[in-house]
Amino acid sequence: MKRDVVTLIMQDHREFERLFEMLQTGEGDRELYFQQLAGLLAAHSRAEEAEVYPMLAKTGAQDEAKHSREEHAEADALVAKLKKMKADAPEFEQTMAMLIEGVQHHIQEEESEALPSLRAGLSEDQLAKLGEAFALRRGAELEHGPRARQVGGSEMTRDKLYEKAKEHNISGRSQMTKEELQEAVKAVS
Ligand SMILES: [Fe+2]
Ligand SMILES: [Fe+2]
Repeated sequence: MKRDVVTLIMQDHREFERLFEMLQTGEGDRELYFQQLAGLLAAHSRAEEAEVYPMLAKTGAQDEAKHSREEHAEADALVAKLKKMKADAPEFEQTMAMLIEGVQHHIQEEESEALPSLRAGLSEDQLAKLGEAFALRRGAELEHGPRARQVGGSEMTRDKLYEKAKEHNISGRSQMTKEELQEAVKAVS
């Protein structure tokens, strides 16, 4: 059976929730649970950004895709903060609570808005193909971390993306961030 992208994303979401619970009870090796959460969250987010959100934007939900990227960036910033703290420091607790709350909110939004948009806008076959692309990117990120994009060979510099945007005559390109250019270029190619 083909694994569609929505099922795969929701599986990860349930795993995040399991890790949140472990982190909130304060039992066991918090450091380890946090490392697991940070690794999986990064891989999941990068795979959504690279494969899923551009497709989401294509189905007409550009605002949702943009909003989701912003929420990922907020979570990334909190994870980066937590990585610099000791797990028994008082501010670790507070920052972790913020991260959990933010990601829970993001999951809820994704499942009530983004994922239904994808289901409605794509065929079974497209959902399965997107699932494959998501799983591949997620696997590469888990294995290679931030280097995955170079390993995957699909990462373009902003200049290159800008050139592509120019080719496609995308308006507002000079004001776009690299991520926005990436999304816009993907949406038209
Ligand atoms: Fe997600
Ligand atoms: Fe997400």
